[in-house]
Amino acid sequence: MCGIVGYIGYREAYPILIKGLKRLEYRGYDSAGVALLNKDSNLSVYKSKGKVKNLEQYCEGKDISGTIGIAHTRWATHGEPNDVNAHPHYSQTENIALIHNGIIENYLTIKKLLIKEGYSFKSETDTEVLVQAIEYIKKRYNLSLFDAVKRTLRFVIGAYAIGVIERNNPDVLVAARKGSPLIVGVGEGEFFLGSDATPIIEYTSEVIYLNDEEVVKLERGHQPLIHTLKDIDVQHETSKIMLTLEDIEKGGYPHFMLKEIFEQSKSLTMCMNGRLNTELKEIKLSGVINHIDKFKKAKRILITACGTSWHAGLIGKYLIEEFCRIPVEVEVASEFRYRNPVINPGDILIPISQSGETADTLAAMDLAREKGAFIYGVCNVVGSSIARGTDSGTYTHAGPEIGVASTKAFTTQVTVLIMMALTIGRELKTLSEQRYKKIVTELTNINSKIEEIFTLNQEIETMASVFTYARNFMYLGRGYNYPVALEGALKLKEISYIHAEGYPAAEMKHGPIALIDEEMPVVVVTPKLRTYDKVVSNVQEIKARKGKIIAIVTKGDVDIKKMADFCIEIPDTEECLTPLLTVIPLQLLSYYVATKKGRNVDQPRNLAKSVTVE
Ligand code: F6R
Repeated sequence: MCGIVGYIGYREAYPILIKGLKRLEYRGYDSAGVALLNKDSNLSVYKSKGKVKNLEQYCEGKDISGTIGIAHTRWATHGEPNDVNAHPHYSQTENIALIHNGIIENYLTIKKLLIKEGYSFKSETDTEVLVQAIEYIKKRYNLSLFDAVKRTLRFVIGAYAIGVIERNNPDVLVAARKGSPLIVGVGEGEFFLGSDATPIIEYTSEVIYLNDEEVVKLERGHQPLIHTLKDIDVQHETSKIMLTLEDIEKGGYPHFMLKEIFEQSKSLTMCMNGRLNTELKEIKLSGVINHIDKFKKAKRILITACGTSWHAGLIGKYLIEEFCRIPVEVEVASEFRYRNPVINPGDILIPISQSGETADTLAAMDLAREKGAFIYGVCNVVGSSIARGTDSGTYTHAGPEIGVASTKAFTTQVTVLIMMALTIGRELKTLSEQRYKKIVTELTNINSKIEEIFTLNQEIETMASVFTYARNFMYLGRGYNYPVALEGALKLKEISYIHAEGYPAAEMKHGPIALIDEEMPVVVVTPKLRTYDKVVSNVQEIKARKGKIIAIVTKGDVDIKKMADFCIEIPDTEECLTPLLTVIPLQLLSYYVATKKGRNVDQPRNLAKSVTVE
C-alpha cells in the first residue's frame, strides 16, 4: 500500500529512486513522484498520475540531478489518483517535501488549525496536512527538521511511514514510522529508505528495522540517529537481509504471478528445509516445540488473517482440529479486532500474513496480546511488524511475493500449518505414530507431485481460453478443499474482474443453484475425499441444469470425469495435503483467463500488495 524509497549518499539519487519505485510498484500504481535536492540545494518535486513510466516521461529534460531524494508510488486513500494528490507534497513555502504511506486520522482537525494560521492546501490528501504541520512547527519553535518532525508526530493520530527533505539542507534526510513499514539500508557513505527491502538489496544487505514511533536522521558522514517521539535515544543493530536480486526479478516469465506459481515447489522446499527430515520422516518445528506446554494447555486456538491468508487459516482449522483435537476458531482480522472477542489467558492466537504488515491482522494481534493470548505468528516477510510482535512463530520462507495475487504464500502457509498440526498432534498423542509417519512421508513427496501438475500448464491454458466469455464463476469444494474453492474464486475475481463465488459444495442447493444455467462455469474441487460420493451428487445436479463443469479430480477418477466438461487430474495424496495440489490448477486457470482478457495480472485495478491501511 504505497511504496516509499529514499536515498542520501554520493551517487545520483534519481536513477536509484526510479529503479526503487519500479520494484515497489506492486504496492500501488495510481501515481508516482520524486523530490530531489540539486547541487545548489534547490528542491524540485516532479509527479505524475499513473505508473512510474509516466513519471519518467514527465521528468525527461528536467533537472533531475542531486545526491539526495525521496520518491513514492501511490495507492490512493484520501483524494482521487491525480497529479495534484500524488506524493511528494510540498509545504506552503515549498521548502520541505514529504512522502507518506499510511493514513493520518486526525488530519481534518490539524488542517483546520493550519488554515486559521493562514495555510492553504492544494490537494485533498492527509499527507499535505502533515508536511504543512511540520513546516509550521519548525518555524514556530525554531527547530531543526529532525526535531520538527518528532514534535509534529506527537500529535498525529494514525499510521505513517514518511520521508522528509528540506531545501538548503542537503545533508539530511529524516524518516519516521508508526504502523506502516519502513526499512533503512546502511551502505558505505550512503543510506537508503524503503517500504521493504526490494529497492535496497542491489546496494546493501545491511538494514535497520525502525520500530513504531521512531524517527531517524540520516546525515552524510554520520551514523543514523534514532529517537523515539519522546526524544529518547535508541540504538539498533543492523540486520542482514537474505534476499537476492534474482528473487525479485521476473526471471524470463511474462509476469511475477506466473513465476511465483511455478516457484511453488522451490518455495515449499525452502519452507520445509531444516524442519522436515526426509530420512527420519520427522518434523522439527522449534517454534512449536519450545512452547509445547502452551499448546498442550491451550483450550482453544484462534486464527486471524485477511484474504488468501484467511483461506489458509480455514485449512488450519481442519488440520488442527483433526490432528490435535483442540477447538479452533478462524476469523477475518477486520471483524475480530472490532467486535470485542472473548479471549482468555491461555488462548493461542495465530495471525497469518504474507507481508506481516496487514493493518487489520496487526491490530487483531495487538488486541489478543492485550487480553492475554499467546501469539504464534505465521509470516513470510522476515522482520515484518507482525513477525516482530509475536511471542513465537514459524516463517513460511516463500521468498518475496511480488505479484499482487497471492500464490506461493498460500501454499507455504498451508505447509507450515500442516507441520504445526502434525507436531502438536504427535506431542499430544492425538495423532497415532503410524498416521504421523504416513502423512510426513507423503509431505516429502509433495514437490514432485506439484511438478507433475505443472506439466498440465498447456492444457489449463487452452481450457482457460474457452471461459473468457464468462461473467460469473462458481467454485465448489468440501472439507479441506472448501477453502481452496474460496481461494480459487478470489484469485479469479481479483485479476480477471470476473465475478466468482466459492461455496461448500453441499450449500449449493440452499440458494446458489438458482444461478446455474448453460452459461455458468462451475469449478468443482474434488480429489478423492471422504465426501467424494456426496460431491458426485452435486455434480449431477449441476449437469442436470446444464452448467459447465470444470473438475479438479484425482488421477484415475471415473465418476466425475464422465460428467465434467473439463477435467484436471492431480496426483493422489493424503486428503489433508490435497489443498497443496488442488489450488495450483486454480491459480493457473485464473492467470490464463485474466491474461487472455488482457488484464494486468501483476497490478490489478484498485488493488495493491500489503494492505497497511484499514
Ligand atoms: C489475494 C491477496 C490478499 C492477501 C491479503 C492478506 O491474492 O493477496 O487477499 O492475501 O491482503 O495479506 P497478507 O497475507 O500480507 O496479510
